[in-house]
Amino acid sequence: MKRFSVSVPSELFYEFEKLIKRVDQDRSKAIQQAMRIYISEYSWKENISDGGGAIVVVYDHEGIEEITDLQHEFRDIINSSLHLHLDEHNCLEILAIRGRVEKIKGLIDKIKICNKVRQIRYAIVELNA
Ligand code: NI
Repeated sequence: MKRFSVSVPSELFYEFEKLIKRVDQDRSKAIQQAMRIYISEYSWKENISDGGGAIVVVYDHEGIEEITDLQHEFRDIINSSLHLHLDEHNCLEILAIRGRVEKIKGLIDKIKICNKVRQIRYAIVELNA
């Protein structure tokens, strides 16, 4: 076992503490779980060349043009998309993805910098030929 200390904003710390108390988990176990999720989320980008999966984006409806433009630009790796109108102002889009990892990473990075994007989550798995 390794012990280490980290610095986090106090609001993040208290939100985290409140949640782990509610789900009755100890802090070390929760951090271990978060680190494993982090590793699985980032390691696919460097270890494999082909991937597939889904990107989920929640964005302000005003950003629809920007999101649609990206879908045209990346049409070779987006196999399908599903649009949900969450409420009057918010949209949720699910993109089914398959292609070169560098290209998928490029799409994710471009979605992240759209200023109408509120949340982005993705699950990409290794696809070995
Ligand atoms: Ni919509």
